[in-house]
Amino acid sequence: MSENNIQNSLFLRAAFSKSTERPPVWMMRQAGRFMPEYWEIKNKYTFLEMCKTPEIAADVTMLPVNLLGIDAAILFSDILVTAEAMGGDLSFTQGVGPKFANPVRNQADVDKLLTEVDDKLQYVADAIKVIQQRLNGSVPLIGFAGAPFTVMSYLVEGGSSKDFKLTKLLIHNHPELAHQLLAKIAKVTVDYLNLQINAGVNALQLFDSWALALSWDDYKEFSHNYNTEIISKLNRKDIPIISFCKGSSVFAPLMAESNPDVISVDWNADLLDIKKKLPAGIAVQGNLDPHILYADKKVIKERIHRLFERMRGQDGFIFNLGHGIMPDIPFDHVKYAVELIKEFRY
Ligand code: CP3
Repeated sequence: MSENNIQNSLFLRAAFSKSTERPPVWMMRQAGRFMPEYWEIKNKYTFLEMCKTPEIAADVTMLPVNLLGIDAAILFSDILVTAEAMGGDLSFTQGVGPKFANPVRNQADVDKLLTEVDDKLQYVADAIKVIQQRLNGSVPLIGFAGAPFTVMSYLVEGGSSKDFKLTKLLIHNHPELAHQLLAKIAKVTVDYLNLQINAGVNALQLFDSWALALSWDDYKEFSHNYNTEIISKLNRKDIPIISFCKGSSVFAPLMAESNPDVISVDWNADLLDIKKKLPAGIAVQGNLDPHILYADKKVIKERIHRLFERMRGQDGFIFNLGHGIMPDIPFDHVKYAVELIKEFRY
């Protein structure tokens, strides 16, 4: 496929709710630890070194394209690179996950955060250029960023959290401070996504992974409003934006108000029901429970076919998981799933 033809790719057609002969497939965390080839690289570098070295980020981005034959590549990076560029002292430890050594908890911490950080994120633009040379027009490249609420939760908690206690205390006891922090992250996120567009991505996904922790009213005030602002400020004529959150089966009606092209849906919902309730022109992405990929191949086949039969005749459907692939899912199960999807015809 030539560069000019990328707009005709299955993935971009489905993202813009045009008809396709089968659903396109990509999977969140498709470039990761379930692949032996990932470990060959990971054993030599830290995760952040991998993200910050364009040639290595490109090598990892290409793994699922070359080994799985996936219909879209996703930039190898992390949602927390924006927070690091703002001044977060970020590290990733195996088995622990992300940590910020300097959590953001008071006015002075918020004031210290930088908001002009494009220079510090130039390595991402460089990686995108290398990846597009490698892809050579074969499949579209998805860029991404974390949504302000989800990024804020890592900065405030200092890492991953089960209950988001400190983040919720901040929004409930000090809403103005929370808004200052969210506004700073939102500003950086707009610049960062526009930097990715300028560098050549073909689509974008906004990850609001932990929005499900919020009540309806808090989601509106502390998450949705910022996501809407971000989406409205992107220079993105032919670049679809996918809005993801765990909890989209609850928040989809609000998410639709932000005018994304695609809403990525978790596995709690019936995908067709969600799609029918959305305004025409918003595609859906999802929504297989990633745990299905642990199961026997006949179960994988039955569940994927069940989902596809449900969505038969619908334009605007991208196959994905409800959340990322777990690191111990067998590689050959993922490969089997992709092959099955690519054989399917509406
Ligand atoms: O999807 C892809 O293949 C592209 C790369 C990608 C990564 N992280 C690589 C990664 C993407 C899109 C992300 C997004 C991300 N990062 C999210 C949103 C998606 C989601 O899962 O909800 C979140 C919440 C993060 C934050 C993050 N990064 C956590 C909590 C962790 C540790 C947990 C874990 O899975 O290890 C990471 C580390 C991370 N990001 C790894 C990878 C491949 C593992 C790094 C390693 O090899 O040790």
